[in-house]
Amino acid sequence: MPSPPASDRLVIRRPDDWHVHLRDGDMLKAVVGHTARQFGRAIVMPNLQPPVNTTARAAAYRERILAALPADATFQPLMTAYLTDQTDPADIARGFAEGVLTACKLYPAHATTNSEHGVTDVTNIASVLDRMQVIGMPLLVHGEVADRDIDIFDREAVFIERVFSKIARTFPDLKVVFEHITTAEAVAFVLESGPNIAATVTPHHLRINRNAMFEGGIRPHFYCLPVAKREKHRLALRKAVASGSPKIFLGTDSAPHAIGRKEAACGCAGLFNAPFALESYATSFEEDGALDKLEAFASEHGPRFYGLPLNEGHVALDRAPSHPPQAFGEGELAVKPFHAGETLPWRFAGAA
Ligand code: NCD
Ligand code: ZN
Repeated sequence: MPSPPASDRLVIRRPDDWHVHLRDGDMLKAVVGHTARQFGRAIVMPNLQPPVNTTARAAAYRERILAALPADATFQPLMTAYLTDQTDPADIARGFAEGVLTACKLYPAHATTNSEHGVTDVTNIASVLDRMQVIGMPLLVHGEVADRDIDIFDREAVFIERVFSKIARTFPDLKVVFEHITTAEAVAFVLESGPNIAATVTPHHLRINRNAMFEGGIRPHFYCLPVAKREKHRLALRKAVASGSPKIFLGTDSAPHAIGRKEAACGCAGLFNAPFALESYATSFEEDGALDKLEAFASEHGPRFYGLPLNEGHVALDRAPSHPPQAFGEGELAVKPFHAGETLPWRFAGAA
C-alpha cells in the first residue's frame, strides 16, 4: 500500500505512558506488548498481590516485565513502590538512588483495586514524603477518599479538600502527580498549584461521561476508578489537555481484567485501553482542534516533569480507520479493549 500524503500522517516523538497496569504472570505476557508497541517507557503501577512495596520487589517485577516483552521491544518499564503505613524511607531512597524506583504510589486504603494495603492516614507516611521531597522523588496519587459516606462521584473533589491540599501545604516542594484526574475541581487545583504539581489524563476520561455505564443497561466495560463523571467534567478535561499546559500529560491507566471478571455481579474496575491508546487520544485532540498539542502532551511534558530525557525516536499515526476488536486473547486471558466495535479515524503505524 502506498504511504498516505504528508497531511494524513502525524509524526510525533515516541510517547511514554505515565500510568499503566501491566499485571503479572500470564496476563502480563498477554498485555505488555500492546503498551510496548506504542510507548517508549511507562510508569508501571505496583498494585499486584502482594503489592510491589519495596525496592527488592520492584527490581524483581521489572525483571518479569522485561522477560515478558516481545524480543524486538525497546520498551523501558519505570518502576514504582506502593506506599503502606509501614514503608521504610531508607529503602525507598535507596531504590531511587539505584535507579530501580522512579516514583512512589499513594493508594488511600480501600480506594481501588488491590489497595487494601494502602495508606490509612497520610500522617503515617510523613517521614517517607519528607525524604522524597529532599531527594526529588515524585509521589503519584490515586486522588479519591475511600470513605463510604462520601458519594462515589464526589470522592475526588473531597480528596483535594481533605488530603491533597494538606500534602501540598506540608511538603511544598514535593513533586506530585495527581493521577487520572476526572473532575473540573482537579483540573483547577492542578493548574492553580505550583510547577511541582502535575496530572495525568486517560484516553477514556476524555471520551466518556458517566452515562456510558448505563447506556440501555449496565455496561461494566466502562466502569473504572476514578469513575467517569458528568459531561461538564469531561469537557473540563478536554479543555485542560488542549490548553497545552506542561503540567498535564499522558497516562492511560490501562487496567486489564479478564472479561469474566468485568461481566460479573461485582465487576472489577478498569478499562483496557493500551491497544488503541494513541488513536483514542488523537481522536479527542483533533475534535478540539488541538492535534498540534498532542506531541507535547504525549512525549514532552511527562519526561520534563520527571526530569528524564525525551525519547529519541518517532512514531506515526495515519489518518486511516482502526477497528478495535471485541476482544484480545482467550478464556481467562480474554480482555476487551476500549473502543471495541467502534471505528477510530487514526491508525498507529509504528516507528517513523
Ligand atoms: C485499576 C486496576 O484495576 O488495577 N483500576 C482502575 O479502574 N483504574 C486500579 C486503579 O488505578 O485505580
Ligand atoms: Zn491506575
